[in-house]
Amino acid sequence: MPHTFVIFGASGDLTSRKLIPALYSLFAKGRLADGTRVVGVSRSEFSYDAWREQLEQTTRTYVGTEFEESSWRDFASRIYYQTGDIQQANDFESLAAMLDELEGGQRCTRLYYLSTSPRLYHVAVEALGSSGLADESNGERRIVVEKPFGTDLETAESLNRTLHGVFDERQVYRIDHYLGKETVQNLLVLRFANSIFEPLWNRNYIDNVQITVAEEVVVGSRAGYYETSGILRDMFQNHLLQLMMITAMEAPARFSADLVRDEKVKVLQAVRPLTGAAFAQDTIRGQYKGYLDEPGVDSKSQTATFASLKLHVDNWRWQGVPFYLRSGKAMSCRTTQIVIQFRQPPHMLFADGARRSPDANRLVIQVQPNEGIQLHFHTKVPDAGMKLRLTDLDFNFQEEFHSALPDSYQRLLLDALNGDASLFARSDEVELAWSIIDPIVAAWQSPAAPVLEIYPSGMWGPECLIQWMRVQGREWFDVCPVLD
Ligand code: BG6
Repeated sequence: MPHTFVIFGASGDLTSRKLIPALYSLFAKGRLADGTRVVGVSRSEFSYDAWREQLEQTTRTYVGTEFEESSWRDFASRIYYQTGDIQQANDFESLAAMLDELEGGQRCTRLYYLSTSPRLYHVAVEALGSSGLADESNGERRIVVEKPFGTDLETAESLNRTLHGVFDERQVYRIDHYLGKETVQNLLVLRFANSIFEPLWNRNYIDNVQITVAEEVVVGSRAGYYETSGILRDMFQNHLLQLMMITAMEAPARFSADLVRDEKVKVLQAVRPLTGAAFAQDTIRGQYKGYLDEPGVDSKSQTATFASLKLHVDNWRWQGVPFYLRSGKAMSCRTTQIVIQFRQPPHMLFADGARRSPDANRLVIQVQPNEGIQLHFHTKVPDAGMKLRLTDLDFNFQEEFHSALPDSYQRLLLDALNGDASLFARSDEVELAWSIIDPIVAAWQSPAAPVLEIYPSGMWGPECLIQWMRVQGREWFDVCPVLD
């Protein structure tokens, strides 16, 4: 069945940077259903040709060497544009008429993509309902909602209520682009398609888990958004908690959207709520030096650009295993990694004097860049008595498969078109994630907030982080890149 992909907020950056390049690449690979068309909607005036020309330039840039003239022309002939204002009910009537005409009365799956300012989500959803655009008598209707999904639990609940007033949960796709990353999906494969890791994947063998999303970029021109969001809302409520869920979840009975999401939700339900002294003991907040000079930032801003949280998952598998989550802007390098830090052997046969315990085994999942996996284990240094060294086994996607990994939007858009919601967040998942993050946000805004640590750019966050770990008898794994 053909698909109609309708983008609201089409003149925005996301459309040209991510959505159109992903749809074009899918088209060029022959992955889109025959007859699939794309319709952009926004307030700017564009003729079809003008919009297609503009998209050609940007798609060329973002797709790079894989851009191919003739397939673009073919794809571009399926791109349409409709001027429309989300706040004008009449414009939805015109859109409905335009879509009916394009589809020629054929049964068709429609996907509405909300890429507008989040403050327009409610009104857009309600207008889709009242204009009959959500009606499924002539094919399925789905809606994709970009992040941020609310700014706290209350606003997320309210948005879910609005969505459920028009769409069933099965029609709603809440996007988190981290779930579209090949390496994140591969974590499911690593854990559940191999038998060697599962017996070790628990409190008996794992000492701690470190999930790091470090970025070199600074906030720059995004201060308007970032000042109200900060690192907890921008990165933890979604990406970091998603990575944690995939790392900690149980194997679902089948790989189906609801069963996968049931298991992920159970992880969030088991996260021990932070209370009282834990906010000061188990969280670190930081701000990079120079943040206050960014355009649009209040000169006294307390917004955190770095955070580290120590969370516990209260279930049988993870009891006593801390999950350290950290993320920051202006850090020393760009890396997203999940480190499974195994325990020391119970008896150290080869302890070498002063350093009684050499590093223990570690599994490093390098989510990006240089995507791959590295396993660290001890080896005897040849011809040096019983001297040991930590060595590694590497797996690198690029070397193994000789092709660049597709952008996460390709996988997610295709899944949404095909009706597979496994890699999208469910309403309860998003709400639970907020219920973990909200109390930390509140504690950080209270008089008892932990000190805002100022860190110089180009570091692994505030200096106190090292000591914080050390007093817990642990160390961060701060190597970047782990794979070349
Ligand atoms: C976005 C955040 O969701 O993710 C940005 O709003 C952040 O602040 C980005 O830079 C990171 O995504 P990626 O895929 O580059 O790691």
